[in-house]
Amino acid sequence: MAALFIFGVILKRVLSGIQPSGQLHLGNYFGMMKRMIHYQEESDLFCFIVNYHAMTSIQDGNRLRDNTLNAAMDFLALGMDSEKSTFWIQSDVPQVTELTWILSNVAGVGLMERGTSYKDKLAKGLKANMGLFSYPILMAADILLFGGEIVPVGKDQKQHVEMTRDIAIRFNQTFGDVFIIPEPDIDTENQLVPGIDGQKMSKSYNNTIPIFGEEKVIRKKVMSIVTDSTGVDEVKNSDCALFHIYSSFLNEKETLELKERFTIPGTGYGDIKKSLFSRIMDHFQSFRAKRAYLENHKDSVYEMLQHGAEKASTVAEEYLTRARNAAGLNYRV
Ligand code: ADP
Ligand code: TRP
Repeated sequence: MAALFIFGVILKRVLSGIQPSGQLHLGNYFGMMKRMIHYQEESDLFCFIVNYHAMTSIQDGNRLRDNTLNAAMDFLALGMDSEKSTFWIQSDVPQVTELTWILSNVAGVGLMERGTSYKDKLAKGLKANMGLFSYPILMAADILLFGGEIVPVGKDQKQHVEMTRDIAIRFNQTFGDVFIIPEPDIDTENQLVPGIDGQKMSKSYNNTIPIFGEEKVIRKKVMSIVTDSTGVDEVKNSDCALFHIYSSFLNEKETLELKERFTIPGTGYGDIKKSLFSRIMDHFQSFRAKRAYLENHKDSVYEMLQHGAEKASTVAEEYLTRARNAAGLNYRV
């Protein structure tokens, strides 16, 4: 298989997919997007928007279409580079659905039934269709079709990568050595970013600060971050949502300075919120300009995505051909 060499060093293939399930927020940015964008500097990054997976929760064509394109534009605006990385939309490389079928024949029903994410979704009242049930097989196909070696995911997705390993090992034992066995890479360093109500920031809790929201929406959200009733002249507790959201933007020294501000008489929560709002706008200023540019130049977005899909397809064809040959699907001998 092709490997990426830079100055004689073989770069690992890091691969991850992101669901286009709604407006991306500061939690997604600090917990995942920033990290993925950084990977393109030090690895052979394969990153894609998983719209087939999103069908398990979004069954409205217009919404899926909009979310998919918006997620892609968000990533490109934040610095995902279609030359440095391979960045595409999952459904532009439909070979992944063929591999899903092939892998379905070595994936046990029991393995799927033990899926905690599947069980959680059922418990939340989601209807069990076959898409939801075999979600982990599509994810295995995503990883194996492109020879992913390192898979950065949140803790909740670790089991899916372990299932991928099981499925790949079973395939290799049954049909011969075709697939690379991937390793999960779980981020243990970064803290979860709290939402404006103090719980984990998540679109399901309606407590997010959107990265590319309108300025007045962002201001309103920041000003409504929950705080206690400590008076302006009293020492304030810095173990709160306002402090933790703000410190996501800061280095160590700046974080200490922020902590100090919580103790200064005369500085109210409102003042700190105003500074946070300015910090957010400054941090994202150039990204917002790029995002607006892309919004008005969709043809260039389509072109970058097409380029990514073509690069991804070349790798997909290699692995798929080997899997088809090993499984006996290619009958021309
Ligand atoms: P949401 O909770 O809004 O539905 P997702 O589950 O789609 O977000 O998460 C997408 C990615 O963003 C995952 O990699 C997840 O670990 C990361 N992420 C989501 N919320 C946060 C948060 N509050 N803090 C840090 N990372 C987060
Ligand atoms: N299931 C992952 C999530 O919800 C998204 C995903 C799909 C993925 N395919 C993948 C992650 C392949 C890593 C590798 O977050």
